[in-house]
Amino acid sequence: MILKMDNVIKRFNDHLALNYLSLEANKGEVIGLLGPNGAGKTTCIKSIIGLLPFDEGEIYVFGMKQDGKNQKIKSKIGYVTQEITIYEDMTAKDNLAFFGSLYGLKKPELENRIHEVAKIIGLEERLNDRPSRFSGGMKRRLNIGCSILHNPQLLIMDEPTVGIDPQSRNYILDFVKNTASDGTTVIYTSHYIEEVEAVADRIYIMDQGHVIASGSLRELISRIQGDSHILVDVKMAREDKKDELLAMPDINEVIIKDNQYHIIVPGGISIVDKIVSVLAPLGIVNVNSKQPNLEDVFLTLTGKQLRDEVK
Ligand SMILES: Nc1ncnc2c1ncn2[C@@H]1O[C@H](COP(=O)(O)OP(=O)(O)OP(=O)(O)O)[C@@H](O)[C@H]1O
Ligand SMILES: [Mg+2]
Repeated sequence: MILKMDNVIKRFNDHLALNYLSLEANKGEVIGLLGPNGAGKTTCIKSIIGLLPFDEGEIYVFGMKQDGKNQKIKSKIGYVTQEITIYEDMTAKDNLAFFGSLYGLKKPELENRIHEVAKIIGLEERLNDRPSRFSGGMKRRLNIGCSILHNPQLLIMDEPTVGIDPQSRNYILDFVKNTASDGTTVIYTSHYIEEVEAVADRIYIMDQGHVIASGSLRELISRIQGDSHILVDVKMAREDKKDELLAMPDINEVIIKDNQYHIIVPGGISIVDKIVSVLAPLGIVNVNSKQPNLEDVFLTLTGKQLRDEVK
C-alpha cells in the first residue's frame, strides 16, 4: 500500500478542517478526490506530504509514518499545487532544471530528464520560451512537468485543470492514465465530476473534512441507485406481455400507458436486453432509460452542486 490515512483530524483554531479522515491508495491507482470548496482536499494533501502538521490520527506513506520530518517520503512524492508555481520569466527549460535540481538531480541525468519530461508534457518545441508567453494550459503542463522530474512514486495533483483549454485538459487526463499504468500512484483532486469519472479507479467523496462515500464509480452509483426506469414504446401494447415481464425476477413494476411500457427495475439497466426480447413481437418503436451518474451520487450525498462552486 502506498498511502494509508487513518482517522486524521486537523483543526484550524476551532474549525475542523479534517474530521476523522481516512483514505488509502495502492500502487498504480488513480484516486479521485472530489469535494466542494472548503471540503478539506488541499488540507488533506498537505498533511499527506508533510507540509502541514495534523492533530490526531496517523498517515503512512510508502509504509513510513508521516511526521513532517521524513525527507524520504517527500523525495518520492510529486506535488502539483492548486496554484500554478513556476517562474514566469525563466525559460521552460530553466524552470524544469531548477525544480529538478531541488529534487537533487544533476547533469547529465537532469538534462536527459528535462527532455523526457518536455516530451511527456508536450512542450519540447517550447523549452526555450518563457511561460509569460504561454497559455494557461501550457503553464499548467509545465507546472506538472516540474513535479515529475524525479519520477515520483506518488503524484498528487490539486485541481490541475481549472481554467485551462480542452486540449491541455485532455493531455493532462491522458498523462494521468499513462503514468498510473506505468505504476505511479496518482491522487487527483478536481471539481469536475466528468474528469474524476474518466480517470479515477477509486473515488473518495469528501465534505466538511470527512469522507462521506468511497469506491469505484460503479460502486458509488449502485449505492444511490434506487430504481432504474426503462421506457419502451411499442406499436400495440398487450396486457399478457406485462404479466410476462412481471414474472421476470429483476422487474419490480410494469405500467402500460399509451402503448408505452414503463418498467421499473432495481439496480442497473443490464436487464434491458431481456425486456426488449419479450416486447419485440409487439414492434418496438423506441427504448429509453435513465441511470444515475456520479453527479447524482454527489448531489444525493452532499446536497450540494459541485459545478456551481468552481472558482
Ligand atoms: N491556513 C488555514 N488557516 C485557517 N483555516 C484554513 C487554513 N487552510 C484551510 N483552512 C480552512 O479549512 C477548510 C478546508 O480548506 P481546504 O483548502 O483544505 O479545502 P479544499 O477542499 O481544498 O477547498 P477548495 O476546493 O476551495 O480548494 C476550509 O474551511 C478553509 O477555510
Ligand atoms: Mg483546495
